[in-house]
Amino acid sequence: MLFENQVALVTAAGAGIGRAISLRLAADGAAVIVSDVNDEAGAETVSLIEAAGGRAAYKHANAADADEVNALVPFAVESFGRLDLAVNNAGLGAMPKPVQDVTPEDWDRTINVTLRGTFLALQSQVAHFVSQGSGSIVNIASLAGISATPQLTPYGAAKHGVVSLTTSVAKENAELGIRVNAVAPGAIETAALASLPEEARAGYAAEIPMKRLGKAEEIADATAFLLSKQASFITGVVLRVDGGTEA
Ligand SMILES: NC(=O)c1ccc[n+]([C@@H]2O[C@H](COP(=O)([O-])OP(=O)(O)OC[C@H]3O[C@@H](n4cnc5c(N)ncnc54)[C@H](O)[C@@H]3O)[C@@H](O)[C@H]2O)c1
Repeated sequence: MLFENQVALVTAAGAGIGRAISLRLAADGAAVIVSDVNDEAGAETVSLIEAAGGRAAYKHANAADADEVNALVPFAVESFGRLDLAVNNAGLGAMPKPVQDVTPEDWDRTINVTLRGTFLALQSQVAHFVSQGSGSIVNIASLAGISATPQLTPYGAAKHGVVSLTTSVAKENAELGIRVNAVAPGAIETAALASLPEEARAGYAAEIPMKRLGKAEEIADATAFLLSKQASFITGVVLRVDGGTEA
């Protein structure tokens, strides 16, 4: 199995893309630390993994809270003896609105979870991987981190920051055997998208060259590849998984 005897950490793993990634890594042999702010949802992801014969443990962490994020790596080591793989998936958007209507609170909420959260997670994971001499990280970015995002300016700024963190931290650590990559999903069928107005969702599918929304499992496949030894000479890459949108 691809991740036999390895331990993975996935943030915001109680739903959507994070849950699909957790299930995929566990099916490929990893023991998974499932983290989320929604304890019930996180526990459900653990149950799904265990029901499928995998190993997992849950730890509450708000991605924007430094103490809670810093507790995740030690929890992985306590629970399963080590940490090899990390997926920084926590990220939030706000309801679409023109830049002049964005409140400071909208800005802070999005930046704190999406950008500060990825930064905090990377710091603690890289510190651990440097001392271990190995490790592979995937940050979940977005097409919003590659191109313009009218009506979603805080989210676009945060995801551009996630891409910058990915490439910078990848180069900083390339010599040390630590790989850092990003997956940039296009429009994927999850609750985050379901919360947008119907008109906006139909618009997304129509604009995608494959004429459909993506599935969380398709993001999980790309993430598993980048985390794995199959991607051993790949670091600092932002892999679009978007049905051809940005081609
Ligand atoms: N769905 C899409 O179309 C799409 C497209 C591009 C990028 N993304 C990115 O993928 C990631 C996951 O999105 P999703 O669509 O699966 O979302 P989702 O809404 O389906 O699930 C989000 C999960 O994050 C958890 N969460 C919320 N706030 C949190 C916090 N502060 N700390 C920790 N966990 C928190 C929720 O409890 C939930 O379990 C995000 O970074 C998002 O920006 C999604």
